[in-house]
Amino acid sequence: MRLHLLLLAALASAALPPLPLTTSGRWIHDAAGKRVTYAGTNWPGHQEAMLPEGLAHQSAASIAGHITSLGMNVVRLTYATQMVDEHVARGSDVPAKEGLIKALGRENGTRVWGEIRKRNAGLREQAGRLEVFDLVARELGKAGVVVHLDNHISRATWCCSTKDGNSWFGDTDFDAAKWKRGWSFMANYTRSWTALGSVGLRNELRAPDNNPQLKERSYKWGDWYTHMRAAAGEVHAANPSLIVFLSGFGFDTDLTAVVRDTKVLKKSDFLPNKIALELHNYQNNEKNCGNIRGGLYNHGWNALNESDKGVANVLPVVMSEFGFAQDMKTAGSVYATCLRDYLVQNKAGWMVWVLSGSYYIRSGKQEFDEAWGLLKKDWSGWRSEEVVEKYFRPFVRASLKG
Ligand SMILES: *[C@@H]1O[C@H](CO)[C@@H](O)[C@H](O)[C@H]1NC(C)=O
Ligand SMILES: *[C@@H]1O[C@H](CO)[C@@H](O)[C@H](O)[C@H]1NC(C)=O
Ligand SMILES: *[C@@H]1O[C@H](CO)[C@@H](O)[C@H](O)[C@H]1NC(C)=O
Repeated sequence: MRLHLLLLAALASAALPPLPLTTSGRWIHDAAGKRVTYAGTNWPGHQEAMLPEGLAHQSAASIAGHITSLGMNVVRLTYATQMVDEHVARGSDVPAKEGLIKALGRENGTRVWGEIRKRNAGLREQAGRLEVFDLVARELGKAGVVVHLDNHISRATWCCSTKDGNSWFGDTDFDAAKWKRGWSFMANYTRSWTALGSVGLRNELRAPDNNPQLKERSYKWGDWYTHMRAAAGEVHAANPSLIVFLSGFGFDTDLTAVVRDTKVLKKSDFLPNKIALELHNYQNNEKNCGNIRGGLYNHGWNALNESDKGVANVLPVVMSEFGFAQDMKTAGSVYATCLRDYLVQNKAGWMVWVLSGSYYIRSGKQEFDEAWGLLKKDWSGWRSEEVVEKYFRPFVRASLKG
């Protein structure tokens, strides 16, 4: 009997919810009408190599296995628009090896590609970048993990600052037309991903501080809406089953106007029950949980509250990024415990930054060790068993119970 139950539990954790997902008021439901609360992590693929990180260390299947072993049900998989631009310019998928050589140099690029192929036997020598993304999406699906595809940045690199040229529509490296084309392309391309449930149109919009005229003219809700609505339209046209997540101002910490005003966002401009909101929080040094909670509520989390008369657009809200160094002192901080309790109490979804491990290259440093990563540098296991057992495992369980 005991064995039977364990077996059932194992099977249950390996099954995707029936897709597509839809929204209903503040909730997300699966195709069977059951509530789905996201509880997961970010798996970056948007830096110079333009490949999902970690694959030179471990197979996609074993990384996916870690995610499900924690009970997580979603991964926010990030990509850069540059990946699509290069594909379109060439007329075919850019070989992953070529991209790695460009990012890491001939010697290390060649070696790292050899390691990726050694650990991920299905990949051809000539495999393109998108084939590597396909592999990751497929393994996540097999492990019962929903994929949330995120456009993280235009020029492939570590993100984000207000002066990196990728801050806002029309910034030096952020061509809004290419971004929209990128979505049209990716939403069509990823129709074969059986685990794909939702997309995030753009990570952390922010003021273009190196471009004061653009900031003055365009860093406004009207321009936000024009662009977001158009890109959502591209996604819906290519794949109407996806939930499209909209992000806000100030590094995605502010959706105030969207929640309060149906002139800023009109739900009938989108496919019915297919849009939601995402917000980030990095108030890591805040010592007062009340301040964090009040700020969250007033800057967009009130969209969850149908009985608040100030809320014009009731929508699901997900915390698609928050994160901290993986040690018990930090996991016990006001910030980490406050966000956990807020999200559980509000029965809201989340993806913690970040799964990696390490990066092929970050900010010019190869094999960059990520102190905030759930996994250790070689992606073989948890960076801190204690943080996983005392913070994340109960957090995931409480979120999924909601
Ligand atoms: C190439 O990889 C090796 C081994 O990880 C590392 O020591 C070296 O610094 C890398 N080269 C560059 C240019 O980063
Ligand atoms: C959509 O994707 C399919 C399969 O990858 C491809 O054959 C087709 O050309 C794409 N359509 C558009 C409009 O890009
Ligand atoms: C929702 O709004 C009502 C009315 O303003 C308020 O009383 C209640 O505390 C809010 N609920 C949450 C969870 O914030």
